[in-house]
Amino acid sequence: MSILSTYEESHPGSMSKFQRAQSIFPSGVTHDNRYATPFPLYMTHGKGSKKWDVDGNEYIDYVCGHGALILGHSHPEIVDVVHQQMALGTHLGACTDQELEWGSHVKSLVPSVERIRFQSSGTEATMMAMRLARAYTGKTVVVKLQDHFHGWNDYAISDSSGPSSGVPDVVWGSMKVLPAGDLKILEEFIITNDNVAAIILEPTGAHYGQLMFNVESYLKGVRELTAKHGIVFIMDEVVTGFRASSGGAQQKYGITPDLTTFAKIIAGSLPGGAVGGKADIVDMISHNGKFVRNITDRVAHPGTFNANPLSAVAGSKCLEIISRGEVNTIANNMGIKLRDGINGVFSSLEISGHSYGIGSMVHVVLQDCDCDREICTGDHTRIKNTIAEEKTIQLKRSLQNHGIDVMGRNAFLVSAVHTEQDINDTLEAFETSLRECRDENLF
Ligand SMILES: Cc1ncc(COP(=O)(O)O)c(C=O)c1O
Repeated sequence: MSILSTYEESHPGSMSKFQRAQSIFPSGVTHDNRYATPFPLYMTHGKGSKKWDVDGNEYIDYVCGHGALILGHSHPEIVDVVHQQMALGTHLGACTDQELEWGSHVKSLVPSVERIRFQSSGTEATMMAMRLARAYTGKTVVVKLQDHFHGWNDYAISDSSGPSSGVPDVVWGSMKVLPAGDLKILEEFIITNDNVAAIILEPTGAHYGQLMFNVESYLKGVRELTAKHGIVFIMDEVVTGFRASSGGAQQKYGITPDLTTFAKIIAGSLPGGAVGGKADIVDMISHNGKFVRNITDRVAHPGTFNANPLSAVAGSKCLEIISRGEVNTIANNMGIKLRDGINGVFSSLEISGHSYGIGSMVHVVLQDCDCDREICTGDHTRIKNTIAEEKTIQLKRSLQNHGIDVMGRNAFLVSAVHTEQDINDTLEAFETSLRECRDENLF
């Protein structure tokens, strides 16, 4: 039976739910990344490293809540604090002890965070970071890098192909998209434009390391250039925060940004985001002792669910567990074992492909490369084209048929609760899936 027929036959419940969903949601889905042909899968529940779909199929989960679940699904300590907080109130319409705890945990893990404000998502966090930078510098233009993702607010969503549909030209005109990894181009732009407020980037290259630059030298160069020219350096650690290391990519590489944006892991599996960084900049939000301070001379920051007690207790517990010290080591070791194992499978089957990535952020591309398997030096256009090809789509489908769910089309976000057994089972499934793709003449 073909990969597609197996997919259809083993997921009848998902197929029928998708039929219903199409009259409710655009394309039947609630997140662009969940769009899949012939239909996406519908899950019922998760526990640890596993999750189950409506047809009773079990998956080893590498989506891990789009990277939020470094402690896996329903970690007992988090379930416990969230249960308790549910009974105490989900929104007290006031300041809480829980938000103090949460903010203190972030500050102690990420020393560049002198001051912090919580939001409800990474999209809000990057929007606020750009606004703070503009208010602080009095300048307008924010530089972002090609392919780097910062959520879907009007400033973040466009790339060098032009403004995303619905984004006003004036907003698009306040952004500049530059090629990633090229310090010379960045420097030239900065020197010839005196209206640059900030640069925002993913510190491990686009999509948590899928499209890499020379991390250490580029980040260092950006830090030096921005410091020299009074430009705010925003590190978007929505994925890498508390994952690349307990203190994020900035700790791993020893490079301190002016502002950092967080989401995902920070909120311990519930919705949440934050901007933290230099007190001078984040304090653009402050009231300076005035009950009502004109929003033309400060940065306004309301938000009904900012620092809500449920996200606060989940986030605090998650960060406390991370600060105990084991989480990142385990997740990174499991990621490296998976990556090395996948490279072994490619070699033994003599199929073109390689796996690379930093610690727990593992990517697979169906093309050969002589990179060091951590920082991939492959051409970005070639990687993107390969990921868009039918063979990558079929590989994902086949992996799903064999009980493995990956992030996007080709990434594995590994948690601290993935076990050696999970990794071995994944490698076995990966080998079977590659064989099936080969049998279908996909390569
Ligand atoms: C690096 C990065 N920044 C920002 C965002 C947006 O976060 P959210 O989906 O919470 O709005 C994402 C989402 O995946 C992301 O990967």
